[in-house]
Amino acid sequence: MTAESASSPRPFHYPQPGSALHCGKVSLDALARRHGTPLYVYSADQIVERLRMFDEALAGRDHLVCYAVKANSALAIVKLLADKGAGFDIVSGGELERVLAAAPEAAGRVVFSGVGKTAAEIDRALTADILEFNVESEAELELLAARAKKLKRKTRFALRVNPDVFAETHPYISTGLREHKFGIDIRRALAIYRSVAGHRWLEPHGVSVHIGSQIRSADPFGAALERLNKLVRQLRREGIALKSVDAGGGLGIDYHGGAFDAAARVREYAVAIDRALEGFEGRLLLEPGRFLVAQAGALVARVLQVKRNGSKTFVITDAAMNDLIRPALYQAYHEIVPVKRRAGRPRTVDVVGPVCETGDFFARDRKLAPVEPGDLVALLDAGAYGMAQSSNYNTRLRPAEVLVEGGKARLIRRRETMADLLAPEML
Ligand code: LLP
Repeated sequence: MTAESASSPRPFHYPQPGSALHCGKVSLDALARRHGTPLYVYSADQIVERLRMFDEALAGRDHLVCYAVKANSALAIVKLLADKGAGFDIVSGGELERVLAAAPEAAGRVVFSGVGKTAAEIDRALTADILEFNVESEAELELLAARAKKLKRKTRFALRVNPDVFAETHPYISTGLREHKFGIDIRRALAIYRSVAGHRWLEPHGVSVHIGSQIRSADPFGAALERLNKLVRQLRREGIALKSVDAGGGLGIDYHGGAFDAAARVREYAVAIDRALEGFEGRLLLEPGRFLVAQAGALVARVLQVKRNGSKTFVITDAAMNDLIRPALYQAYHEIVPVKRRAGRPRTVDVVGPVCETGDFFARDRKLAPVEPGDLVALLDAGAYGMAQSSNYNTRLRPAEVLVEGGKARLIRRRETMADLLAPEML
């Protein structure tokens, strides 16, 4: 097993056969010694490169990539992307605060999605003059109108419609079917746009869709956008000219490594969307999260013990499900490689954390290169929904985070302390 092949989609590699795994020019062994483990390490260069792929593939069309902050909400990553011109897709007032803290100048490039926005969150976003609210129900549109009136701010909205398209992915992250809680039935949308035409405080600005996450084929995106385009055309005939179409996020990566041509994947996706939007001349918004950051990140952990129970071998690491919950929650696969390779044959093992749950595993019956207690391992493709979904379960301190940019590493989040954890509590 290797971290990288010739056409590697990952920034992690062994510069020489005997050397430690590196992120760009920086050794993960050195980073772990300096900052401790578990440690998230991200490549800024790869994140920027992925953003560029979208911009290149869509060069012929007015577009804005609105990074889905939920995938990895580190301030330094938000700033990195804002500096390269990206916008942001947020789903909470908290995520808005992150964008405003890291890149206040990007407020006008924010779209606000999410099924349950509070009046306070709406007010804050109205005051920040964000680009667009993606509205998920008629009740929310009423609330938005009321808040806009109260603050005397005309507001741009898009209806998030549910196109009833099936996206083949894990059921927990599939969102585009009528049975899901997301969006407004596309058959209702026309009537809703009509009902607010000429409204004093609401400007029908766009239409949006998000059919799910970790989608590996371009086809469902094309199908969803064709339905959206039909709606846009119908509205135009009625004198409602939408300025934006938001295609949502969802473009998947290949967690199994191997030959994965990220640029080709983006091109294929862009072509499907572009075709589906024939005749639409407004701005295309995209909300990728995972595709921009997943493969840029690894979670580095130290092996605490190697334990045998009957026929099974458990590699116990100092990282656990609270640091990276994807395997436990979605049966997700993350490739695991040793930071320093040892001679010897791979062994079939379970890689687990110290949390008191059977679900606390990173891999089961996995052929893993030989490791010993004290060794470091890297869990790959952990840049998206890793740290962002971490918790303090078992009163564990969340990991530190390091960003590697142009050959230099910098700490972007220090490890939590016990004092941080206990601060909000009282006896
Ligand atoms: N836009 C909206 C409205 C979303 O709900 C999401 C993700 C995205 C964009 C970004 O999707 P992406 O490009 O990252 O696929 N925790 C799960 C993924 C949950 C995705 C939720 N929504 C995981 O670890 O796989």
